[in-house]
Amino acid sequence: MVKLTGLNKIKTAVFISGTGSNLKNLIKFSKIKNSPISVDLIFSNNSKAKGLKFSNLFDIKKYVLTFKDTKAAEEKILNLLNKDNIKFICLAGFMKILSRSFIKKFNGKIINIHPSLLPKYKGLDTHIRAIKNKDKVAGCTVHFVTSKLDSGKIILQKKIKISKKDTPTSLAKKVLRQEHKLYPAAIKKIFD
Ligand code: GRF
Repeated sequence: MVKLTGLNKIKTAVFISGTGSNLKNLIKFSKIKNSPISVDLIFSNNSKAKGLKFSNLFDIKKYVLTFKDTKAAEEKILNLLNKDNIKFICLAGFMKILSRSFIKKFNGKIINIHPSLLPKYKGLDTHIRAIKNKDKVAGCTVHFVTSKLDSGKIILQKKIKISKKDTPTSLAKKVLRQEHKLYPAAIKKIFD
């Protein structure tokens, strides 16, 4: 097995739109000796994304591109990714849908974390829907990104029990805690 050092880890960009707890978690994971990735770039479509603070905290380059013009934003991103030799992309709470042509250029190299047991509850408000439907189990999924929303090949999933007392907020917290374990495990599964 190739021994991974900071120099031969797979250069990775993380795309975010909000809090960035998964981003922070991936950065921490990337610093572990046997992590296959290093986090070298952070992208956000939202200049107010709280997660952008991790750029300064961990000294990682960040770029904010509004996506008002998706094509122009994606072209810029592709240039920046190429310039920095980025080979892998992790979407972590990124609220924009990437175009088919962008995904094609990074075919099989973009993954996403989604707060449900896909194929159940694609899209938004997963926890509200699970509770409304009186589901007993929720979960999270890490999957490859294809041009169909939340539909690419599943890498790993984790089930989480919904208790009678759970609200969408309490469930979101429970699921997020598991997301922080699942995302690194999925990355290890891909590269190990
Ligand atoms: C997570 O629940 C993730 O599954 C979903 O958006 C949320 C992002 O949370 N896609 P954070 O910004 O990583 O804290």
